[in-house]
Amino acid sequence: MLKIQESVSLKPYNTFGFESKASFFVEIREVEELKELINSELWVEKPHFILGGGSNILLRNNFHGLVILNNVQGIKKISESESEVLVEVGGGVNWHDFVIYSINQNLGGIENLSLIPGTVGAAPMQNIGAYGVEIKDTFHSLEAVNLETGNIEIFKNADCQFGYRESVFKKKLKGKYFINSVTFKLVPEAKHQLDMTYGAIRETLAQKSILKPTIKDVSNAVIAIRQSKLPDPKLIGNSGSFFKNPVVSTEKFEELRLKHPEIPGYVLNDDEVKLAAGWLIEKAGWKGHKENGVGVHAKQALVLVNLGTGSGEAIEALANKIQDSVSDIFGVQLSPEVNFI
Ligand code: EPU
Repeated sequence: MLKIQESVSLKPYNTFGFESKASFFVEIREVEELKELINSELWVEKPHFILGGGSNILLRNNFHGLVILNNVQGIKKISESESEVLVEVGGGVNWHDFVIYSINQNLGGIENLSLIPGTVGAAPMQNIGAYGVEIKDTFHSLEAVNLETGNIEIFKNADCQFGYRESVFKKKLKGKYFINSVTFKLVPEAKHQLDMTYGAIRETLAQKSILKPTIKDVSNAVIAIRQSKLPDPKLIGNSGSFFKNPVVSTEKFEELRLKHPEIPGYVLNDDEVKLAAGWLIEKAGWKGHKENGVGVHAKQALVLVNLGTGSGEAIEALANKIQDSVSDIFGVQLSPEVNFI
């Protein structure tokens, strides 16, 4: 039975910890409930948005509509061979809980994505990634409800049009689907190739004198690296990287390198280089900056934080200033990774 609540605080549902009220709020645990909702009057009358773990949203005002919390649970193996295991996971499952499940089952593929806040259903939306791995590398398919028709549709990897922090669900199909479950293609430990291309992972393992790392060792290394740089949202409100790393032309990169020989750049192809937004923001003098209850994290300038008394508007104002300053100094435009509500 669908239970629609009125005037609900979204503070516990966003990792910035900002106060904002939703006029209506409903929790979905199974597809049947969603179908019931789509046929209700409220659905036709009010705007809506779907909430996962709330780790990639910036709430600025009260939301005069309906917030739908995806709380579809469940993790199950659907096929198993020597080289591949397909695991279907509910959209509302906490991402890191799923990572722990995969490690306990000795399945590889998502260990580099340990400790990323958020839910499984939200993960494909922006093709979450860290330490050389993206969700698209293990993504098999997803099952989603078309919010116009109520029909269930299957999206294979290519259908999702994954890119750097991008998918079709952030573009053409934005707001049109509810992700019910995601199926991953994981690899049993004996056949799994660990990804240790990221220098900090190798250094962390070397410090612990681990010569033959397991999936669990790599996960632990990632957890240690994240904990050393990124604030725990339970203690300091934040939404991870606030901006995407900008991509510029090779020409522009060379021009920047003449002035700043130490500028980090990751060559994507013959024409494009990805810059480190954190470096640009730090160089522009923002690291550790505080204003109006919000700030720039002192250990990672790409992370904006709620110091306890901040607001979504204060974060937005700070983000605008950072964008202007980086644009003035380097001629590079930063775009937010976070969704503004
Ligand atoms: N850097 C600085 N100053 C800073 C931050 C970074 O100089 O304050 C430099 C670092 O020294 C390094 C480079 O920038 O040379 C890259 O930094 P880092 O390895 O910390 O990664 P990032 O590019 O800032 C990205 C992702 C993170 C992910 C890490 C690790 C984006 C927008 N962010 O950050 O993802 O954990 O790589 O793979 O792509 C997230 O999306 O929320 C997120 C945390």
